[in-house]
Parts: sequence; structure tokens; C-alpha cells
Amino acid sequence: MADIKKLMVPWLEGLKPYFSEHIEKAWEDRSLVRMMSNEGPFGPQKAVFDKLVEGAKMANRYPDSLNHIKKKIGEINFGLDQDWVLLGNGSTEILDMTFRSFLQPGDELIQSLPCYGIYIQRANIIGAKTVSIMSKDNWEYDIDKIENAISPRTKIVVLANPNNPTGNLIDDSIYNRLARKDIILICDEAYIEYSGLENSKIPLMKKYPNMIIARTLSKAYGLAGMRFGYALGHPETIGIISRTIMSWNISLICAFGAYAALNDQEGLKEKIRLTNEGRDYIESELAKIEGITVFHTNGNYILFDASKTGAKSEEIVNAVLEKHNIILRKMNPFKGREGLFRITIGNKEENEKCVKAVKEFFESR
Ligand SMILES: Cc1ncc(COP(=O)(O)O)c(C=O)c1O
Repeated sequence: MADIKKLMVPWLEGLKPYFSEHIEKAWEDRSLVRMMSNEGPFGPQKAVFDKLVEGAKMANRYPDSLNHIKKKIGEINFGLDQDWVLLGNGSTEILDMTFRSFLQPGDELIQSLPCYGIYIQRANIIGAKTVSIMSKDNWEYDIDKIENAISPRTKIVVLANPNNPTGNLIDDSIYNRLARKDIILICDEAYIEYSGLENSKIPLMKKYPNMIIARTLSKAYGLAGMRFGYALGHPETIGIISRTIMSWNISLICAFGAYAALNDQEGLKEKIRLTNEGRDYIESELAKIEGITVFHTNGNYILFDASKTGAKSEEIVNAVLEKHNIILRKMNPFKGREGLFRITIGNKEENEKCVKAVKEFFESR
């Protein structure tokens, strides 16, 4: 009998498959209010839904290379040509393909904490080492520390704009400094549409062939379950990453839905307007709680620090779930702040329910 463990690549030792407890919980009980995963609360617009159905009717066919979608994405993004665009099964696959293209076992990837948890997970499965640099007290990236951490083994630095969970937009100077280094610089713009594409780092990316921008339809477009993301970069860089594409990584059904969503910029604007309205409401209401710090966001999630009240992240999140059926996101105690928690902005009704629940928790202490 083959010794499977001996055949396994050694860097998979000790790793676990990705598992999200709160998403499992939300699917088990669909009455729970999902304010934990930075999904959009609004279902697909009719124009998108109809196209998904049209695609489903042709599910017996393989899709082509979807150049019409790349062309549309280029048009939306500063008029880039289609060879500056790469499509992925969510931006997670874009990140994965980029990691596979530039990292090998023993290489290093630099991330800044707190950040999206999948960077380290995808680096681990390649056998690369993740070097994590803690952000400054105001959650700005600590560029000096990041720069100092770059070693001959560093191949990739990944920094989100705006960052999740902190919500802050990043200054050009940070990317400028890093893009001049001999590394691949990934700018993860999963949430950029909420603050507007004028905040995108595309103009910088055009200057630097070693810079890649990762985008998704999971957030502002509200299509997380459809799984569609894309990368923007110089054609040579996109050409290299394209070598790793899994054939037909975008399902035909998803392609139909994505094209319709990208063509409905008015529908997108409306979702963004409602979300930003919800953000202003939640931020201003919860700022009234004594001892709570609200970190203003440029995404569809808000980070709060209740450490000064003495309440711990887990306590808050558990109470809101148990008493009000709302799932929020507990956070690790970054910088010793034990009261950090994150709320994903929902629809109007969900936001009101959530504000009431959080206020009730603090009032009853
Ligand atoms: C910063 C960031 N990047 C990327 C993603 C992944 O999005 P998707 O794979 O759904 O495109 C997320 C999801 O939460 C995120 O927070």
C-alpha cells in the first residue's frame, strides 16, 4: 500500500483546508442576518438574473476565452486594452494564480496585519513563507518596516486599497516606494468601487510592470456566490500569470452574469449609494456609545474598537448573535485591542436591527 503521507509535498504538513465557521452557520440557519463576510446584501439586479438564467440554458457548452468581458472591464477601468485584463474565479483565484506564478517553496510574501486571511493560506500551500508586518496604531501601513522586511527571498508584497478590515485608503507614496523594489506588488482593490475608481492605483500600475491590481464582483457588485474576479496589469505580467489559468475557470453561467453586471453601471451605483448611506448611519449611531472607537471605512464593513469599555470581541459578537440572530465578525486582538469587531453593512432593515442590538449590548453592561 502506498504511504500517502510520504508522497505528499512536505509543505502541506499541518495545513488545514479553508473553512469558515460563520458562513457554515449562516447557511445552516438562513434566518440569521449575515453581517460578517463583507457580502453585498442585495440580490442580483433583474438584468443580471435574466442573463444568469440565459447562461444556465446553455450550460451544456464550454465558454470561449471571454474577450468581450475583458474588453468591457478595460473600458470601465481607465480604457485599458483587453490584454491588460485577466479573469479569475473570484479575486481569490487571481491572488492564487499570481502567487503560483512568482512564489516557490522557501520564497517570502509580505503582508500587513490586520488583513484578508487568504493571503497566508494561499502562500502556505505553495510552501512559501508569509512575513506579517503590523500596521501603525492608526492602521496605516508601516512602510519603513515593510521595506526593511524585504529580503532576497521576497517575491511578493500584497497590500489592499482600501484595506480589510481597517477600511482605510492607501496613499500613493506607499505603493510608489514598494513598486521600485525588485518584487511583485499586488494591490488588492476588492472594495475600491465603494469610494470610487478615482481612488484606484491603476495610474501607478500603468507606470510599473511589476504591479498587479486584483478586483472582484463579490463586493460592490454583490455577486460573491457567482465567483468572478479579475486582475489588471501590464500585458507581459498578465501574460505570465495567464500561464497558470485553469481551463474554463469562469463558468458559462458566471460569464453571462458577470457581463450583464459590468454593463449595468447604474445598478452598481445604486447598490453603492445604499451601502454608503448604511455606512454613514451605522458609523454615526455606534459612535454615540461611550468608549467605542469607529474607524471610518471606505468599504462595506466597519471596524470598531470597544476595548475601552472592557467588552471583549467574542462577548459582543456572541451576545448579538444569541439575542438578535445577527452574525458579526470577531477579530483577533491586534495591538492588544481585545474589543475589536467588524460589521458588514447590510440593507436598511438589517442596519437598524444591528445598531439596536449593539446599543442594547452596551447599555445592558
Ligand atoms: C481584501 C479582500 N480581497 C479579496 C477578497 C476575496 O474576494 P473574492 O474571492 O470573493 O473575489 C476578500 C473577501 O472578503 C477581501 O476581503
